Amino acid sequence: MNRRELLKTLSLSTVAVTAFKPLQALADSDTKPIVLSTWYDQHLANIPAWNILKQGGNALDAVETGVQVCENDIENCCVGLGGNPDRNGIVTLDACIMDHKHNIGSVAALERIKNPIRVARLVMEKTQHVMLAGQGAQDFAVSEGFELQPTDLSDHAQKAFRNFQKKNDIDYINIEKKKDTNTNKPDYFNVNGFNHDTIGMIALDAQGNLSGACTTSGMAFKMHGRVGDSPIIGAGLYVDNEIGAATATGHGEEVIRISGSHLVVEFMRQGYSPKEACKKAVERIKKHTPRNLNKLQIGFIALNKKGEFGAYSLQSGFDYAVYSATLQNEKFDSDFLIG
Ligand code: GLY
Repeated sequence: MNRRELLKTLSLSTVAVTAFKPLQALADSDTKPIVLSTWYDQHLANIPAWNILKQGGNALDAVETGVQVCENDIENCCVGLGGNPDRNGIVTLDACIMDHKHNIGSVAALERIKNPIRVARLVMEKTQHVMLAGQGAQDFAVSEGFELQPTDLSDHAQKAFRNFQKKNDIDYINIEKKKDTNTNKPDYFNVNGFNHDTIGMIALDAQGNLSGACTTSGMAFKMHGRVGDSPIIGAGLYVDNEIGAATATGHGEEVIRISGSHLVVEFMRQGYSPKEACKKAVERIKKHTPRNLNKLQIGFIALNKKGEFGAYSLQSGFDYAVYSATLQNEKFDSDFLIG
């Protein structure tokens, strides 16, 4: 077993950590600082985050800076203003941020602002509130010097939106006819397939402090006004500096239903490894959702205070990227429940 395989094994399971007990100290000392984020195809976001961490910078600055790589990428289908619009053709953004002192900030349904994560941090640092939504969030951003961006969709989002309209005969009412087989409610997910996601990033800095950030344009072609899990502290993201951090990706409704990221952190508090904690949260979704889960995807990543990390998803295909002194932005495939 080479060093990377050894570290991977150590980080993915409490059982493995116990089995390799003599090497625990090596894992602990080697995994701080560390940053990980959802979906390997967004791994470039870890680079500026890692650059901050390796110079002794704090985890909060690292995650805020890192996720902006995706927010600024006009080609990204699912994060920032280049992302897919709602069913009215409007891009609305959700984001939240949390630090090691339980400071929290969030924005929801924010339009025409390039970096929602920066606005979320300003909500955290400059207001007495923790969450601003819609027009109020935009007004606050403008008052803080953010420029209003044009309403034009990116090229790929325009194309996706046209396809969506075509598929539904330009008459959205047709969507209403496609029902979830369990709930008999309109099934936007099955119409669109798995069409969206998020970047969630969590980090542990050299001082031993955890922070996290989560940002998304949300589900493609959602109802106007729909808010997912990503701006909701406890759902899309949670950090407890005594225990660990977790963040979620996938169908936000199901993550909100179980307060997913908070639940993952609470399972870590009970002694579960990051991977086991994520797995138990996914199992909780399966147990409680009224939806037909077959076409949904949900994934969690988690990091504990020791720098051990792990992930688990509902379906196959979820991966994530990890950057530390020993893991150079490497890809990890998540285990999954029903894929
Ligand atoms: N997880 C992102 C969303 O559901 O909007």
